[in-house]
Amino acid sequence: MCGIIGVCSGPEKKFSTGEIVYKGLLRLEYRGYDSAGVASVEEGTLRVLKGKGKIAELEKKLGLSKVKGSVVIGHTRWATHGAPSDVNAHPHTDCTGRIAIVHNGIIENYRELKEELVRKGHVFKSETDTEVVAHLIEEFYRSGDKPYEAFKKAISMIKGSFAILAVFADAPSMIFFAKKDSPLVIGLGDGMNLVASDIPALLEYTRRVITLRDGWVGFITKDNVFIEELGKGPVNPADYVRVVEWSLESASKGGYQHFMLKEIHEQPRALLDTLYGLRSDPALKEAAEILAEARRIFITAAGTSYHAGLHFALTVARITGVLVTPFIASEYESYSRVVREGDVLIAVSQSGETMDTLKAARAFKERGARLIAVSNIIDSAIPRESDLPLYTRAGPEIGVAATKTFTTQTLLLSLLAVELAATRGDLLKSEYEEYVGELAKSSEYASKSLAWNEGVAKKVSEMLRLKHSIYYLSRGIGLPTAMEGALKIKEIAYLHAEAYPAGESKHGPIALVEEGFPVVFVVPRDQYYEKLILGNIQEMKARGAWVVGVAPEDTSLRDLFDVFIKVPASSWITTPITHTPPLQLLAYYTSTLKGYDPDKPRNLAKTVTVE
Ligand code: G6P
Repeated sequence: MCGIIGVCSGPEKKFSTGEIVYKGLLRLEYRGYDSAGVASVEEGTLRVLKGKGKIAELEKKLGLSKVKGSVVIGHTRWATHGAPSDVNAHPHTDCTGRIAIVHNGIIENYRELKEELVRKGHVFKSETDTEVVAHLIEEFYRSGDKPYEAFKKAISMIKGSFAILAVFADAPSMIFFAKKDSPLVIGLGDGMNLVASDIPALLEYTRRVITLRDGWVGFITKDNVFIEELGKGPVNPADYVRVVEWSLESASKGGYQHFMLKEIHEQPRALLDTLYGLRSDPALKEAAEILAEARRIFITAAGTSYHAGLHFALTVARITGVLVTPFIASEYESYSRVVREGDVLIAVSQSGETMDTLKAARAFKERGARLIAVSNIIDSAIPRESDLPLYTRAGPEIGVAATKTFTTQTLLLSLLAVELAATRGDLLKSEYEEYVGELAKSSEYASKSLAWNEGVAKKVSEMLRLKHSIYYLSRGIGLPTAMEGALKIKEIAYLHAEAYPAGESKHGPIALVEEGFPVVFVVPRDQYYEKLILGNIQEMKARGAWVVGVAPEDTSLRDLFDVFIKVPASSWITTPITHTPPLQLLAYYTSTLKGYDPDKPRNLAKTVTVE
């Protein structure tokens, strides 16, 4: 949801500030890519270059990377207020053209503020909510405040979510920042300082970062960082510096055509890292204890993370005597009403910043629930607000469509379910050991599943590129994986895809099935479900469906499939780990065969920081 970056550097600078911002924008492009722009302060004047289109196209047209100046800020947009256009692209400037700002988030009270500013004679150029901030700053600056005071006063008047950077032609060595509900990270470089929405934009220059907290404002210069909590006083930056382990390599394509393909193939490594990370972290056992004492357990998330949440609920139902209520984060109001002290919510979010999930978490906390967060980003908003954060260690995921973060989430949540069952005394020692042993083999299973299916996925994609609709059917523990398969192909190949419990398919969906209609069956390794699914496959085939079966190597159903996608014969509990990788490949190849860019699907953003 919009990416922002800024850099302050001195005259002796090692890197060109324009290039740093341009490259940073490319790394942040997954957050939004309908328009982009930069602002630089060069010899006392402010220069803004911006427009509609992808960053690389704008570079050719405008030369974004060529800007010089001791301070440069940049923005890549995912439109919320005002359609993607040259004029709505950030940075936005005040009436004098001497103050520029970039913003990620939503200014909720912009209408009131705008009316007031228009009355005072300000002229607005765009339809965005953001522009109001530039004019507000101008208003205070005009009445005699110094730049930082004017910036702070403007920030204290806006409501909503924001990560904002501002530069002044009259303050040529400073970038002002403010953060509430949208992520912002400072990078401490050598002879320069940076600030950006996300860590990958900083990695080429530094690993020393400060994750800003809500309510913090301040400024950076090339060798200084000043932070304060609005209305409360200064914060010592040194107390918040941490060194990130991610390498630059992990945030680049590394020889793959797309980030998504690289991230699909990184799953074995990501699963191993997550497993090792959890083994050395007492938080998993602590979380299981919290859950064992819970009055009721809820799990919430959005998009792909919701499917991981569903896997947790089904797993817990199967191995413990506890019912977990899963719900889609944006629907939280229907659930938070019933919450009372003693309840526990697990909020799953790879980014840790999804606004719907954050809001759900806050609503539950307000009503006395305890909060466990599952995220891939240390110190992001949801883990920070939780009572106990649990982390996957998938590394940076740049492709908009989640891949490795899903399988690592399901690994973590499966282990949590098993720990919960063990804590409650629901499992025999041998059962516990079997589940933990199977989950420990996740990396090996994902690796086999990928190696076996690259070629088949390409072949099936040749067929799917010609289709308009597809079903993903499964039962029981296979259902979240079927849902994830359908979501993936919908997101990046723009193919109408629906996932259904196979048993329900005869109550409606089957009406669409005719000769050649593609149906993917996700068959978990479970005799009970295999038997049921057998009937559903026959129903579909009888109507001419073209059946793709994703099933264990020892399945009894293989002769029924038109295409057999073979996955390792493991336990039912690892179904998302064995069965999802080929479904990701199917989506990937269908997308690229249709000529789309799977890393940047239209209308989608990786981190959705609006409700
Ligand atoms: C967006 C992304 C999805 C993602 C969802 C939840 O919709 O496009 O890929 O699954 O947000 O994101 P989170 O970071 O909370 O897991």
